[in-house]
Amino acid sequence: MVQLSTSVYLLGGLLGLFLPSPVLMAPTPASMCTPLRTLNDSLSHRRRYMKHNFPINYTIRVHHKEIFKLSDINRMRLQVEQLDALVLQRLWFQVNQGVLKKIIRVMPERHPSRPYTTELERRFRDAEGVFVQSHPTEVFQQELPETIQDTWDHLTEETDRVPESSWRFAPPKLLLDNFCHTMHCLFSECFAGTEAQQHCEYNRALGIRDVSSMSHSLLTS
Ligand SMILES: *[C@@H]1O[C@H](CO)[C@@H](O)[C@H](O)[C@H]1NC(C)=O
Ligand SMILES: *[C@@H]1O[C@H](CO)[C@@H](O)[C@H](O)[C@H]1NC(C)=O
Repeated sequence: MVQLSTSVYLLGGLLGLFLPSPVLMAPTPASMCTPLRTLNDSLSHRRRYMKHNFPINYTIRVHHKEIFKLSDINRMRLQVEQLDALVLQRLWFQVNQGVLKKIIRVMPERHPSRPYTTELERRFRDAEGVFVQSHPTEVFQQELPETIQDTWDHLTEETDRVPESSWRFAPPKLLLDNFCHTMHCLFSECFAGTEAQQHCEYNRALGIRDVSSMSHSLLTS
């Protein structure tokens, strides 16, 4: 028994050593899943509306922080110990609000993708409304970890104060791909088994949790 617990302890220690610290879990409230899945339905048409209706290689100008990918989430998790999932979800809303605004801005009134994009934005707002309602207000007043606050400040900077070097050109389809994949990652409870999750370290940390609870039951049995 002593040997077993020692090896289990060692296993735990090794896992702890080699894996990034797990994200503190703020489980997504079940009420979030309905608006997010509605949003996901809209996003499934993104190729048609964000690619086919635009000139080949069309790009729009966005802040480089608005190119928000799974790898950015993974990097932030490594930079900030015990990063709360809720903080990343807030950041996701902030980023994509700006992305949608910029996509809509480049489309003339009669652009064939305009109704699609305004509907997408409406659904996004609905999801944001549910998100805000389903958490206590204090959560949104909490101080953010420094690197996250830094990103936040860049995202909310006035357009004419953003230095030239911070702008990037990105195809609208790519921006919505990021939108979709990071959503699957950050609200994983609503999107079990999607491809993005395989690249989402955040969920891998959950897998590790299962291992440690298994060792725990071995110890106590
Ligand atoms: C999200 O949309 C994709 C299509 O883009 C679909 O395959 C998947 O089943 C949807 N997920 C949910 C949970 O609605
Ligand atoms: C689009 O970009 C690709 C890759 O950069 C390039 O090979 C292609 O010629 C471009 N097409 C047009 C129509 O500009």
